[in-house]
Amino acid sequence: MIPRVHATVAILAQSDVIAARHAGRELARALGFGTVDQTRLATAISELARNTLQHAGTGLCTIHEEAAPGAQTLIRVVVSDEGPGIADVAAALQPGFSTGNGLGLGLPAVQRLTDQLTIDSRPGRTVIEITMGRRR
Ligand SMILES: Nc1ncnc2c1ncn2[C@@H]1O[C@H](COP(=O)(O)OP(=O)(O)OP(=O)(O)O)[C@@H](O)[C@H]1O
Ligand SMILES: [Mg+2]
Repeated sequence: MIPRVHATVAILAQSDVIAARHAGRELARALGFGTVDQTRLATAISELARNTLQHAGTGLCTIHEEAAPGAQTLIRVVVSDEGPGIADVAAALQPGFSTGNGLGLGLPAVQRLTDQLTIDSRPGRTVIEITMGRRR
């Protein structure tokens, strides 16, 4: 695997959510992912970055390309923050669970839309990683 950082977006405002979403879609398109997968990835990034703003205040989104000749092309996105953390990760993944006034559908959607979702969260440090792959 040769990892390469495609974009790093500081999530400080709504416009950064859009920038991160756009960067993810562009990389997926450049790597030959279909339009449906481009949209799936963009939507997942958008939900994670929106959570950063709403539940943590600010954070960072890094989009990586990982490729190896003849193998799978992978996009890995890491969204991290230094907010309060997710108290109960299993609960947060259930549709309808929200500690804010949201619908609680963001994380369940991210799980559905991506190949892999990992959440590492404690007070002061949350790291959420998603991957999406394309066979060549
Ligand atoms: N980065 C984060 N920091 C702290 N808590 C988070 C973070 N992301 C998610 N959560 C917690 O997980 C819960 C579920 O997140 P999810 O995105 O599914 O729903 P929501 O953001 O509350 O509503 P929706 O996304 O539907 O508008 C949130 O209500 C919040 O308690
Ligand atoms: Mg949300």
